Amino acid sequence: MFKLTSVLSLFLLIQSFGWAKIQDEPREKRQTEKLHITLLYESLCPDSRNFMHQLGPVYEEFQNYIDILLVPFGKSKSEGNGAIFHCQHGPAECQGNRLQSCVINSTGNQAAQVKFVVCQMLAPDYSRVDECASEAGLVTDVDHCVTSETGTKLQLQAELVTKRYSPSFVPTIVYNGVFNQQLQDHSIRDFRSTVCHLLRQQNLLPSGNSICQ
Ligand SMILES: *[C@@H]1O[C@H](CO)[C@@H](O)[C@H](O)[C@H]1NC(C)=O
Repeated sequence: MFKLTSVLSLFLLIQSFGWAKIQDEPREKRQTEKLHITLLYESLCPDSRNFMHQLGPVYEEFQNYIDILLVPFGKSKSEGNGAIFHCQHGPAECQGNRLQSCVINSTGNQAAQVKFVVCQMLAPDYSRVDECASEAGLVTDVDHCVTSETGTKLQLQAELVTKRYSPSFVPTIVYNGVFNQQLQDHSIRDFRSTVCHLLRQQNLLPSGNSICQ
């Protein structure tokens, strides 16, 4: 009987250690929290294209601290539940948005998504799908996605996300799900310093980290 109780208390002791560990976890998780960025853009838009010159290097430098959702839709509109899409820069832009949706959806690797999108947006003829995919380390078999309902579904999803913010300017950059005009204007001028400002303000940099200095 005595033995059984000691086994039981030993068990409870181990349990409470285990419990303490579990309770500690949220604190550790908070330190790895990231700044969430939603980028609303469209494939043939010169301002979106310009922004890619900032996005590439900033993402590369800050990828441990930011989390980005790329939404290629902009001022497009669907009709008949995706039977037709109308895009600001014409049908070629719709194709570009759809293709980018498909490539973005083909990988959970955000660094690869960004690499592909930046590369393709900055390609002189806006094409180079294969070159950009291989540069990003992606397999490009997105033909099925582009020509099927999957592509339509992804563009309808992009439309839903975009509508949440009803952007008046493309690209629109949203931080942590809340649009702010001042942050938008700063981001267009200097994305890096805006990201630094927010990382510091929201305490998302480990103490002693000098990335923003
Ligand atoms: C691709 O899209 C589908 C449908 O929305 C989703 O369930 C899946 O998680 C996406 N995959 C990636 C890698 O984003």
